[in-house]
Amino acid sequence: MPVSSLHIPIHPGQYCMPEEGVQLTPKANLLTTEEILTLARLFVKEGVDKIRLTGGEPLIRPDVVDIVAQLQQLEGLRTIGVTTNGINLARLLPQLQKVGLSAINISLDTLVPAKFEFIVRRKGFHKVMDGIHKAIELGYNPVKVNCVVMRGLNEDELLDFAALTKSLPLDVRFIEYMPFDGNKWNFKKMVSYKEMLDTVRQQWPELEKVPEEESSTAKAFRIPGFQGQISFITSMSEHFCGTCNRLRITADGNLKVCLFGNSEVSLRDHLRAGASEQELLRIIGAAVGRKKRQHAGKGRRLEQSELSGPEENSLETAQ
Ligand code: GTP
Ligand code: 5AD
Repeated sequence: MPVSSLHIPIHPGQYCMPEEGVQLTPKANLLTTEEILTLARLFVKEGVDKIRLTGGEPLIRPDVVDIVAQLQQLEGLRTIGVTTNGINLARLLPQLQKVGLSAINISLDTLVPAKFEFIVRRKGFHKVMDGIHKAIELGYNPVKVNCVVMRGLNEDELLDFAALTKSLPLDVRFIEYMPFDGNKWNFKKMVSYKEMLDTVRQQWPELEKVPEEESSTAKAFRIPGFQGQISFITSMSEHFCGTCNRLRITADGNLKVCLFGNSEVSLRDHLRAGASEQELLRIIGAAVGRKKRQHAGKGRRLEQSELSGPEENSLETAQ
């Protein structure tokens, strides 16, 4: 599968902070706007046609509108997306849409305001819902909602999330909980795709499979008569490395060819050392050549005995 999609976390930090917080990358280590654009230009020239700005939280980077505006100038780039916690979305979306933002994924793990505060450690549930409605109002379709399902926390909300797709053009994506650094992952907290699908099927036996793009991370379904759809991201129980076309640059400029893998190389350091475009392309090409058909995060079919604890499955965060 040729690489065609690039994820760039433009503001560091972690989506679900561990209680002790995370060490933020010092500003001087982060890619500057100019460096982000230089790299984006290079990747687009080499065939990447989709860039997703991620985080931490991309919408708190002060120049996010400017970054999107400049990305939009790149010939050959067809999709500019963000993955956001949604808190600043309603406020920023009109400007972002004007400068070319074309796809929105919103992280939301609960529909219960008090639980939201517990998970995210701040208020803001209503702002996220406003962001979702604003995105729909402005014509984004589908608006993707990423819901990481965790046993004991939100697995009782699957049907409520699925019900949202009745009258809203959402793609609610249920994600298997994955082991990121510091998130105290363990096998028991993970709810598998099969289990989630059974729960939804019991309520809506008429659930239908929907074909998805080959490179999609998600398996899609719809309930007949509903406007939206639901999907499952099965990173843990059924990996999709064979069709993965994604690359990632960390906020401090490391190239990662797999979400589960280690950094391959610091593009920032090469850029700052004055590497030519050709040298950068050679370095990137070599890293992409190491992209594997199976990731290191135990993504093949899970055997419970294989997954004993987080240390065995620790992941680099996309800082
Ligand atoms: P789309 O462009 O809408 O397909 O977004 P996406 O799914 O690539 O990105 P998003 O930031 O919304 O990520 C949602 C979830 O997809 C993540 O939490 C992961 O579970 C999964 N995911 C995204 N990229 C990868 C990847 O490269 N490898 C694996 N294993 N999972 C990924
Ligand atoms: N497992 C799976 N997905 C996760 N995300 C954050 N933490 C985890 C985890 N432990 C997802 C969120 C967010 C996306 C960037 O990553 O859904 O939308």
